[in-house]
Amino acid sequence: MDCVKLVFFMLYTILSQLVFSLSLPHLCPKDQALSLLQFKNMFPINPNASDYCFKFKEFHSYPKTLTWNRSTDCCSWDGVQCDKMTGQVIELNLTCSGLQDKFHSNSSLFQLCNLKRLDLSYNNFSGSLISSKFGEFSSLTHLDLSVSSFSGQIPSEISYLTNLNVLRITTVDPYGLRAGPHNFELLLKNLTQLRELNLDSVNISSTIPLNFSSYLTVLQLPYTQLRGVLPERVFHLSNLEFLHLSSNPQLTVRFPTTTWNSSASLMKLYLYDVNFTGRIPESFSHLTSLHELDMGYSNLAGPIPKPLGNLTHVESLFLNGNYLEGPISQFSTLGKLRVLYLGYNNFAGRVEFLSFGKNWTRLEALDFSSNYLTGPIPFNVSGLRNLQSLYLSSNYLNGTIPSWIFSLPSLTELNLSNNTFSGKIQEFKSKTLDFVSLKQNKLEGPIPKIHFYRVFEDADKSLYLS
Ligand SMILES: *[C@@H]1O[C@H](CO)[C@@H](O)[C@H](O)[C@H]1NC(C)=O
Ligand SMILES: *[C@@H]1O[C@H](CO)[C@@H](O)[C@H](O)[C@H]1NC(C)=O
Ligand SMILES: *[C@@H]1O[C@H](CO)[C@@H](O)[C@H](O)[C@H]1NC(C)=O
Ligand SMILES: *[C@@H]1O[C@H](CO)[C@@H](O)[C@H](O)[C@H]1NC(C)=O
Ligand SMILES: *[C@@H]1O[C@H](CO)[C@@H](O)[C@H](O)[C@H]1NC(C)=O
Ligand SMILES: *[C@@H]1O[C@H](CO)[C@@H](O)[C@H](O)[C@H]1NC(C)=O
Ligand SMILES: *[C@@H]1O[C@H](CO)[C@@H](O)[C@H](O)[C@H]1NC(C)=O
Ligand SMILES: *[C@@H]1O[C@H](CO)[C@@H](O)[C@H](O)[C@H]1NC(C)=O
Ligand SMILES: *[C@@H]1O[C@H](CO)[C@@H](O)[C@H](O)[C@H]1NC(C)=O
Ligand SMILES: *[C@@H]1O[C@H](CO)[C@@H](O)[C@H](O)[C@H]1NC(C)=O
Ligand SMILES: *[C@@H]1O[C@H](CO)[C@@H](O)[C@H](O)[C@H]1NC(C)=O
Ligand SMILES: *[C@@H]1O[C@H](CO)[C@@H](O)[C@H](O)[C@H]1NC(C)=O
Repeated sequence: MDCVKLVFFMLYTILSQLVFSLSLPHLCPKDQALSLLQFKNMFPINPNASDYCFKFKEFHSYPKTLTWNRSTDCCSWDGVQCDKMTGQVIELNLTCSGLQDKFHSNSSLFQLCNLKRLDLSYNNFSGSLISSKFGEFSSLTHLDLSVSSFSGQIPSEISYLTNLNVLRITTVDPYGLRAGPHNFELLLKNLTQLRELNLDSVNISSTIPLNFSSYLTVLQLPYTQLRGVLPERVFHLSNLEFLHLSSNPQLTVRFPTTTWNSSASLMKLYLYDVNFTGRIPESFSHLTSLHELDMGYSNLAGPIPKPLGNLTHVESLFLNGNYLEGPISQFSTLGKLRVLYLGYNNFAGRVEFLSFGKNWTRLEALDFSSNYLTGPIPFNVSGLRNLQSLYLSSNYLNGTIPSWIFSLPSLTELNLSNNTFSGKIQEFKSKTLDFVSLKQNKLEGPIPKIHFYRVFEDADKSLYLS
């Protein structure tokens, strides 16, 4: 074959392939298109089916199935994806789609046996049971049935889905869903590929077994009635980024005293209201990636543990509702702090921490209410230019209230009530404040004229002076 012929031959092959692919009638197998249309017809659309969609995900429900019709290839339908080679439907994502009705076991959905990713979250299946047939989608890597008003027991057949990387079955209906005896253990034992597990508010009511996927990056089990001792292994998951076990008062948590294997990856640690024993150990100083720490209402006692001063990436820190005391100077090094909640503890002493301002230029919320703070508020403070909320109520602060506090450029909420502040308040103008409480103090003189620019309908209601 000479060169010209070769070029023509190649052109011919390319063109014929192109023509062939253009003339493919439907990528999507007919039976699968039919199953999808039947599924669509099972569920009347109610745009209000889930308020939670907007509340949690900040976008409005959008009826994806509404435009599905026979005149187009089902692979192009909203929320549907097909395998490029085989044409089989492999993904169905109907999150926030306004679906509302009972979800029955005879649903045509279960005919889509090649599905790899299935997301039915944020609809309203009106208290339907989760069908054991979900366990037949043997190729599933992602399954999300969250906040869609499913109820009853999560079927044990979910543990057949051994390819799952992501499993999310959460509920907002407290204990509307339960795991059933031993199912949680089976689930964790069998789903060895899990990267993300979220069973928020499912009544699990058991211990966490020792055997589970070592690939976990996200483990969210708040409000699940977990019992027993948290296996130390959780802290040694070397890819763990987010651990959320809050509101399990019967779950006993002990931190490892040695280095945690998760210490370089862990970014969010939420252990609010668990049965915490011991102090925060020195090993915390290795959690160099930590951005958010919530250990409110966890029985922590004693001085702020030194290691917390090493967590220089921390942006939000909640240690409220404990028995903490002593100096808080460690926090002055946390230059990325945006939120610091230390209310309802036993901190005493003066509020010179306000002058950490130079390092606290990003701070937006500071809560020190209900402690034993004494003395005056310093007269001069720099920084704090992003501070929006300052709560110092129910302490023993005294002296006059310095005027700089009313002119912090970002401040919207100020609560200094229930202290022993005295003197007069100068008239002030604020373009940002919309809540001020100064009540239960020893302030004197006429109530100053206060000019609010940023007000609710009745500004007086948010101003408590006497
Ligand atoms: C959705 O909610 C709006 C406002 O609450 C209401 O006017 C509308 O009738 C509701 N639609 C349906 C289909 O329930
Ligand atoms: C059919 O689907 C296409 C693409 O989604 C859409 O543009 C068209 O409006 C639909 N037709 C009907 C009758 O719904
Ligand atoms: C599916 O099952 C439900 C309840 O058992 C029944 O009401 C409905 O008619 C069934 N639908 C089909 C298509 O068989
Ligand atoms: C479904 O789509 C939403 C965005 O519309 C996305 O956040 C979610 O991750 C998708 N679900 C799956 C399983 O891919
Ligand atoms: C879900 O739909 C049912 C009716 O089928 C209704 O009673 C219930 O209030 C809805 N739930 C939510 C969270 O909107
Ligand atoms: C665990 O997965 C295997 C398949 O890998 C399956 O045969 C077995 O029944 C599953 N066990 C449970 C309890 O789900
Ligand atoms: C959770 O499940 C356990 C065991 O099944 C049960 O005893 C308990 O009452 C349930 N808790 C709630 C709040 O439903
Ligand atoms: C909390 O943990 C301690 C042991 O550290 C244990 O004695 C106590 O019973 C636990 N409390 C609960 C409610 O589980
Ligand atoms: C924690 O910070 C102190 C100084 O503030 C330093 O001496 C110590 O080495 C740091 N620890 C770790 C594990 O980085
Ligand atoms: C501010 O932070 C830096 C490093 O993060 C630290 O060296 C310095 O001591 C801090 N300043 C104050 C006043 O604590
Ligand atoms: C005021 O503060 C005291 C302690 O400083 C506290 O005991 C009391 O409950 C507080 N009162 C109110 C109304 O918060
Ligand atoms: C503030 O309280 C302290 C005791 O905590 C007291 O020594 C001081 O005199 C008081 N200052 C004023 C201005 O009342």
